[in-house]
Amino acid sequence: MKTAAITSLLVSGACAFPWVVDTAGVDSSLLNARRLRSRQQAGTGPGSAAECPFNANHVPAAPVTAQYPYNNAKNGVKGNGKGGYQVPAPGDTAHQFQAPGPNDIRGPCPGLNAAANHGFLARDGIVTYAELVDAQQNVYNVDYDLANLLAALGLTLTDGDIVTEKLSIGCDATTRTSFNPTLTGSEPGLDGHNKFEADTSLTRNDFFTSGGDNFNFNGTLFGMMNDACDGDFNLQNLAKYRKQRYEQSVAENPNFYFGPLSLLLFGAASFLYELMPSGTRGYAPDLETISSFFGAEKQADGTWGFVYEKIPDNWTNRVDTYSNNDVTQQILEMYLLDPVLFGGNTASGTFDVINFGSIQNGELSADLSATDTSCLLYQLATGSVPSSLNGVITPSVDALAFILSKVSPGFANLGCPQPLT
Ligand code: HEM
Ligand SMILES: *[C@@H]1O[C@H](CO)[C@@H](O)[C@H](O)[C@H]1NC(C)=O
Ligand SMILES: *[C@@H]1O[C@H](CO)[C@@H](O)[C@H](O)[C@H]1NC(C)=O
Repeated sequence: MKTAAITSLLVSGACAFPWVVDTAGVDSSLLNARRLRSRQQAGTGPGSAAECPFNANHVPAAPVTAQYPYNNAKNGVKGNGKGGYQVPAPGDTAHQFQAPGPNDIRGPCPGLNAAANHGFLARDGIVTYAELVDAQQNVYNVDYDLANLLAALGLTLTDGDIVTEKLSIGCDATTRTSFNPTLTGSEPGLDGHNKFEADTSLTRNDFFTSGGDNFNFNGTLFGMMNDACDGDFNLQNLAKYRKQRYEQSVAENPNFYFGPLSLLLFGAASFLYELMPSGTRGYAPDLETISSFFGAEKQADGTWGFVYEKIPDNWTNRVDTYSNNDVTQQILEMYLLDPVLFGGNTASGTFDVINFGSIQNGELSADLSATDTSCLLYQLATGSVPSSLNGVITPSVDALAFILSKVSPGFANLGCPQPLT
């Protein structure tokens, strides 16, 4: 019942913000069956199928080997969870940097783009669930529980395909991800807006203020982040910058929406100081490291241009794994340093707040219990239903069963509210 309650809160929240419902790719079946058609990704424009590259030569991710085992994470199973090693390993040519070609797909996530540029994910950007889980462990030493949660969120929230377990890390590549495009409709990939991708990103534009380009690197924003952080991309400085971006969106984006899933953006920001720093640089989240992962290159005139996301030379990953619990703590800490209201700008020009689980009157409480805290991410994953199977076969049951099989084991003992199946 709890999940039904959460879902209804999400639905009532979304109704106050009609563009959320009408946004291409957003699951609106929960709201109103008549709107089913309007959820599809726009057929043209940035991120659309029409503009999405097609690489006929799909080569899967290069697997880890006995010679270069990394965390020995293969086929979606749990790896060693012991980091502190160099990536890519010296001599491992299969995982050397290679710039993506014109037919390869990249998207809003620098962590996954970098992994694809090193062959830890399929270099064409059409990836599988197992590749996502393996790559996160082998490259960044993400804990198995968080690797699964992020991959499951990616697949279900952004309309990857839970039958083929394939996902585009960028634009709409339905012809390659879907088990049956006629039945599933479009699967917009990680570029799909107001799912995993959301407003107030660190270096990506808001969807509605940029003609739909919410996934390309923006050097102006990278420069703003570097200024706010003064070259030190730590928790405090990123909290400050995230607040600045939030205020910018409130002021500039009439369709601004900051929903429960926006919590994930605080998690992504924590990756700068938790997952990207290198042991060869004392694990400092410094400009040299961060600019390499974001593909940012300083131009002669002082502005920031884009090259390609690259794991820095001689990079060694974090020693301990980064878990669900770790990231939730960082999300809360960063949020509470500079709290903002959850909600959005409305058509009538006001900012309306929303309620969702632990978020009440637009605020995330500072004194959540430890269990509430750990369950937050779980609720985000189980409270949403992918649109890929809408109108086909009991979609919510299938999607929930998928999520449960992937992420529930890690949460089973916490007593998080179990969704209805
Ligand atoms: C399956 C795993 C993952 C998925 C599905 C995923 C997906 C995404 C998506 C959709 C965004 C865009 C959010 C937005 O700003 O609107 C994003 C942002 C980001 N991701 Fe990932 N991600 C994953 C793992 C990782 C990992 C392992 C790293 C580690 C380096 C990482 C680093 C980042 C960063 C730093 C951002 C913020 C970029 C910005 O705002 O400019 N991600 N990710
Ligand atoms: C980059 O971001 C800045 C600041 O938000 C914005 O003014 C500019 O239009 C963006 N550039 C592109 C190419 O989208
Ligand atoms: C990487 O390590 C090699 C060998 O120790 C060294 O020669 C090189 O300067 C290092 N490069 C960077 C960017 O630290």
